[in-house]
Amino acid sequence: MRALVWRGVHQLAVTQVPDPELRNEQDMIVRVRKSATCGSDLHLLGGHLPFPARGDVLGHEFLGEVVEVGPRVRRHRVGDRVVVCSVVSCGRCWHCGRQEFSLCDNGGAGESGDLTPGGRYGHAHGPGGFAGSHAEYVRVPYADQGAFTVPDGVTDERALFASDAAPTGWMGADLGGVRPGDVVAVWGAGGVGQLAARAAVLLGAERVVVIDRLADRLRMAERHLGVETLDPETQEVAGELRERSGGRGPDVCIEAAGAAPPGGGPRRRRDRLGHLLRPEPDRPVAAHEAVRHCRKGGSVFLLGTYAGAVDGFPLGAVVDKGLTLRGAQQHGRRYIPMLLERMARGELVTEHLATHTMPLDEAPRGYDTFTNRRDGCVRAVFEPGR
Ligand SMILES: NC(=O)c1ccc[n+]([C@@H]2O[C@H](COP(=O)([O-])OP(=O)(O)OC[C@H]3O[C@@H](n4cnc5c(N)ncnc54)[C@H](O)[C@@H]3O)[C@@H](O)[C@H]2O)c1
Ligand SMILES: [Zn+2]
Ligand SMILES: [Zn+2]
Repeated sequence: MRALVWRGVHQLAVTQVPDPELRNEQDMIVRVRKSATCGSDLHLLGGHLPFPARGDVLGHEFLGEVVEVGPRVRRHRVGDRVVVCSVVSCGRCWHCGRQEFSLCDNGGAGESGDLTPGGRYGHAHGPGGFAGSHAEYVRVPYADQGAFTVPDGVTDERALFASDAAPTGWMGADLGGVRPGDVVAVWGAGGVGQLAARAAVLLGAERVVVIDRLADRLRMAERHLGVETLDPETQEVAGELRERSGGRGPDVCIEAAGAAPPGGGPRRRRDRLGHLLRPEPDRPVAAHEAVRHCRKGGSVFLLGTYAGAVDGFPLGAVVDKGLTLRGAQQHGRRYIPMLLERMARGELVTEHLATHTMPLDEAPRGYDTFTNRRDGCVRAVFEPGR
């Protein structure tokens, strides 16, 4: 089959790879209809996360059609249209029992002990070793747990984001503790930040403010999500946030920006050469700001991807301000059925995120557009069947 593979730092190619096969009784094979780029991929492309290896298939946000099921798959049949959670979980271990699906003991089985989170597609040399979805076919392990039948009436374009961006954003608002009447600030207006903001609205927040330097993304958030925005290039974030929250600061601050600023320019070139010699510590600018601007006694939830060590983080402020600081990889299974219902009712609209849709063969161009934030790109979506 054809697939998008990593060939080296910022080097991608669509090439021929072996077809996936059923390996376990709970596996199924899905023919991919749509597979999207995600901010997490930027860390992989640049070689910042546990290093991908030459030939690894990328991609983890996807939707498709079941073409083969293992003997112990109960909930799916050949022909079903399914969206698949980007994080792999078994549904039966201690953590899955607590709905902490991204901490599954078996999703990332066999890797480096207690710190290992569950597995994820497209991180073939990360936990679990699962090939990615920028391909014609994907093997879906624990298929009854990870795949969800898309209700009739929900388009592929909308349901696709129930795989990753929507459950991640929802988790940030939910576990960040958004309550009716709250003022919520979200750093990052990518797919994840936009859907965190929408989740906060649906959970009853009175005001939701999305912060980003990309003006086209802010306009998109205003138009499609009914939220307010702040652009640090032209507005003073500290004063504005205080002003919009009765002088106290936001009750809940959600960071959906990640560490080093992705995209072109000299900084990326330095990273590109620098990581070969010595990995740089993460630069969690947005997380830092969230801690700084959150109200006393408020809650900060980190969704961004961090490779590891962080220096200069304002831990003193976390303690002095009595903040609750949390983070997680998305616990998809906990939210996806509810998100699909909301999509069916029209409460949760996501298709505007798919700004650039193209055949899989053009995926390297799609990543270039996405990585460099060209032409208003929020997510590039690849269609292997086109
Ligand atoms: N926790 C999870 O399970 C999970 C799942 C998906 C993505 N992620 C992570 O969430 C983050 C967002 O994902 P995405 O797909 O929306 O990424 P994206 O790269 O499309 O968007 C990130 C946005 O953050 C903005 N940004 C960067 N620094 C900022 C700052 N200091 N202040 C305000 N905005 C800033 C960028 O301009 C960009 O618009 C990434 O770090 C990604 O790795 C985590
Ligand atoms: Zn992702
Ligand atoms: Zn589990």
